[in-house]
Amino acid sequence: MINFILNDKLISTDSPQGMTLLDFVRYEKNLTGTKIGCREGDCGACTVLIGELTDGKMEYLSVTSCITPLGNVNGKHVVSIEGLNMSELTPVQQAMVDEAGTQCGFCTVGFVVSFSGLCLSNKAISYEDVISGIDGNICRCTGYKSIERAGERIYNNLKNKDLTNPVKWLVEQHFIPEYFASIPERIKKLEVSTKITEGKIIVGGGTDLYVQKHDEMEEAEINFVSNNKELKGIHIDGKFCTIGAAATVTELLESEELKKVFPNLRKHLKLISSTQIRNIGTIGGNFVNASPIGDLTVFFIALNSSVVLKNKANNERTILLKDLYKGYKNLDKNADEYISRLQFTITDSSTYFNFEKVSKRTHLDIASVNTGISIKIEENKITEINLSAGGVGPIPLYLKNTCVFLKGKTLEMKTITSAMEIIQTEIAPISDARGTEEYKRLLLRQLFFAHFLELFPATFKEEVIV
Ligand SMILES: Cc1cc2nc3c(=O)[nH]c(=O)nc-3n(C[C@H](O)[C@H](O)[C@H](O)COP(=O)(O)OP(=O)(O)OC[C@H]3O[C@@H](n4cnc5c(N)ncnc54)[C@H](O)[C@@H]3O)c2cc1C
Ligand code: FES
Ligand code: FES
Repeated sequence: MINFILNDKLISTDSPQGMTLLDFVRYEKNLTGTKIGCREGDCGACTVLIGELTDGKMEYLSVTSCITPLGNVNGKHVVSIEGLNMSELTPVQQAMVDEAGTQCGFCTVGFVVSFSGLCLSNKAISYEDVISGIDGNICRCTGYKSIERAGERIYNNLKNKDLTNPVKWLVEQHFIPEYFASIPERIKKLEVSTKITEGKIIVGGGTDLYVQKHDEMEEAEINFVSNNKELKGIHIDGKFCTIGAAATVTELLESEELKKVFPNLRKHLKLISSTQIRNIGTIGGNFVNASPIGDLTVFFIALNSSVVLKNKANNERTILLKDLYKGYKNLDKNADEYISRLQFTITDSSTYFNFEKVSKRTHLDIASVNTGISIKIEENKITEINLSAGGVGPIPLYLKNTCVFLKGKTLEMKTITSAMEIIQTEIAPISDARGTEEYKRLLLRQLFFAHFLELFPATFKEEVIV
């Protein structure tokens, strides 16, 4: 039985937990405002909000309902466009009208819901936040400038938002209906079980599984780990960081502790998928999906991270993330094991980290090639280095030979150009839709150099790649 609140209504349903939220909303509840576009998380037409009670406050995030399993909304508040509509247009809807932000209208619901999710944020938001908040919504006919202008109006309307009680303020300003004020008390009364049970498919956000095995998932026996407290949380204890496997990309992005360790965290993680996907996609899902271009995998291999695998009998073993991958989609993981958490040592002030990704478009696209580096420099010598690369082999690669070569060398152009040659001997890219073998070899070469330009501009700015 799944218990949640859909707009203003309490839902207790025996519908299959694996069915998509989109199908439930449209076909079981006849709320047809939520549209079906791609069914792959790409277009944003199916965007709804999911609200969760955290530290006494509701936090709303936009998600793509077409790849969100019903089981993941257990104990939460789901808001479709019908739950935002009132007898008059909201300021968000009015802004879209005033700026001619809609033409055929197919995408419009998704944009309005995404914008409304930003309005519900408990934090102050900037104009950039408003625009990046619609990075997972595609419009094929209006043109984005009018939608951006609508975003600017919405941003201006929110300037005086009362952050001490945003819901009260938003109700008073007619952004959301009055029933939102009653949601926290109603959510508290919902009963939710998140125990990991035996012999079932583990689902994090479902953003890989529901694209790859869409038809099989509805009737599948599923363990929904995204609500499991044991698999949540980001903790830094002295020099050690532990991240629960069910942490989402958005949770990494928002973590104040991680931002201190990785000043460019936002820049790096915003290259991953879209707001709606980052809000639900987990690190455990990224690792176990084992895509050779998984961004989080490549990011964390470069930090020489370990993963803790746990079985149903609560036995744990810890392995390096780079050793999880034995061959294409072949993992050092037993069928009864799941990833509990990720661990890595925090870099010190003489260790530098960078992540680079090239894809056909900057946002909402998977990498052609990606790479991460952590490098420790002492007295202009490389004393420690970990280098990863994706899209250049059947698994996410740790570039071992290149690291062995670089360790102990002086940080200078000669070292870097020699290392570039070693890299080419330990990768094996194939030609596919994301580029030819030669192109990927060239890309990694350039991205490797980009690491050094980014991290040591004073040393390498005058240099030219030869
Ligand atoms: C539109 C779109 C854009 C995307 N863009 C990117 C991108 O730019 N970069 C990128 O790297 N990825 C991208 N992805 C892929 C995906 O979002 C990520 O890989 C995400 O991190 C997967 O996490 P999840 O929780 O949704 O995985 P799920 O789909 O829930 O699970 C994936 C696999 O991992 C297993 N699993 C999940 N959690 C655990 C666990 N704790 N222990 C053991 N097994 C587990 C599942 O059984 C399944 O086999 C994109 C996906 C979509 C739909
Ligand atoms: S229908 Fe396209 S993202 Fe869901
Ligand atoms: S208005 Fe037609 S797709 Fe956006």
